[in-house]
Amino acid sequence: IVIVLDFGGQYNQLIARRVRECGVYCEIWPYDTPIEKIISINPKGIIFTGGPSSVYEPNAPMIDKMLFETGIPILGICYGNQLIAHLLGGKVAKALFREYGKTHIKYDTSSLLFSGIPEHSVCWMSHTDFVEKLPEGFKVLASTENCPIAAFGDDTRKIYAVQFHPEVVHTEYGQEIIRNFLFNICNCSGDWKTSSFIEEKVSEIKSIVGSQKVVCALSGGVDSSVAAVLVHKAIGKNLYCIFVDHGLLRKGEADEVMSIFKDQFDMNVIKVDAKDRFLEALRGVTDPEEKRKIIGREFIRVFEEEAEKLGDIKFLVQGTIYPDVVESGVGKAATIKSHHNVGGLPQKIKFEKIIEPLRELFKDEVRRVGIELGIPEKIVKRQPFPGPGLAIRIIGEVTEEKLEILREVDWIFRKEIEQSGLGNEIWQYFAVLTNMKSVGVMGDERTYDYTVALRAVTSIDGMTADWAKIPYEILERVSNEIVNSVKKVNRVVYDITSKPPATIEWE
Ligand code: XMP
Repeated sequence: IVIVLDFGGQYNQLIARRVRECGVYCEIWPYDTPIEKIISINPKGIIFTGGPSSVYEPNAPMIDKMLFETGIPILGICYGNQLIAHLLGGKVAKALFREYGKTHIKYDTSSLLFSGIPEHSVCWMSHTDFVEKLPEGFKVLASTENCPIAAFGDDTRKIYAVQFHPEVVHTEYGQEIIRNFLFNICNCSGDWKTSSFIEEKVSEIKSIVGSQKVVCALSGGVDSSVAAVLVHKAIGKNLYCIFVDHGLLRKGEADEVMSIFKDQFDMNVIKVDAKDRFLEALRGVTDPEEKRKIIGREFIRVFEEEAEKLGDIKFLVQGTIYPDVVESGVGKAATIKSHHNVGGLPQKIKFEKIIEPLRELFKDEVRRVGIELGIPEKIVKRQPFPGPGLAIRIIGEVTEEKLEILREVDWIFRKEIEQSGLGNEIWQYFAVLTNMKSVGVMGDERTYDYTVALRAVTSIDGMTADWAKIPYEILERVSNEIVNSVKKVNRVVYDITSKPPATIEWE
């Protein structure tokens, strides 16, 4: 294992992903983890991440200097680089100008860290502070025009530091540098794979659960599906999946989930038809956060009632994945929407044990495990779909009539995008039923019907997004088909705002 010590930088998860892409298992731990805990697991290496602080500020995050005496190889990135210099007696200063973006760099390719890569290339910089003076015993290993010490290291102590970001794709040989650290310096073996992950998890789940019963909430989303199939592989029919159909799903979705998991995988799936209950609870509600709260609450109630019917069950499976687990130790973002756990199950629910087989995996790894488990691509590669479903894509009150209109419109848009082959490039594409009516003309008749909005965005992680530049011909086809075949819709608009300032969903 390699430990990524988190100092609050924006690329922390990316560092961990790059390490795992080399077949090396790693975890992100907060920077203030006690040093004894780190030493006790005997990591092959430690990576210090970047972070927003300056080492000379009074409350800057620090680490115990003893870590440098342990002999464990260390790589500091950005803030981590400055921290190493600072703690070992070098000097860090504030530059006059912030260095940001693609920067030409010259490497000392005789060092273990940069061996096998071209001497001159491009790296990604994002910093104001820089290392002005090296600590004793270290050599400069790279430089740029504005940053004479862009990397430094000591082969004997196996301590290395880079000012730039090898983890971002803009650093041309970034992955090779990480690879060099892991294989030349830490002596990692690189044999961590999804297949070994599945085997390990299956036997772990078997030994924890034995012949007892386990319950899980299946939504048809990627994470809960992969978690359920993995647990099913371990304990078969002792897994009971509860699929709450809250009536806010897209067209065909409920049937699809049932046919895949019940018929194809022969899993125990209990489908609860709770449409009326959810609609009733949502009646008259227009505030988006209120909708989320109601749906979250009803979901838990339905789930609990069903789980109770199954008798005394101690174990609950959850599809928690690594990004849900990792919280940067430094600073928290403001709540824009109360996304998470809506449609999932928060801690409130009472089970003796929670099984979270995916809690160490990133989304792309979850997808790979899903494929390896034989789950169809349409589930594994599914675009994100919010727990509260179509309720937050219907502006204003949710009614059965509006749901029917939206399902049809959304179906047409999805079908066209998929057929055009654009589906893989677009992060999310869906329709929104605005609460607005406008005048139109059909035949010789005046109409006064709904306006629907089409939303399609490209994104890496959903945190920021760009509106997708879908060709006009496709938009035209979709628009024609919608107004011609869906009653009560006479106008189609395309949302051309990015996130920020808009969000992906309209509510
Ligand atoms: P926004 O709209 O905030 O969405 O840009 C970012 C991502 O989160 C999804 N989303 C939700 N997911 N429950 C969920 O499970 C929610 O209440 C929720 N709201 C937004 C959204 O689809 C996008 O992928």
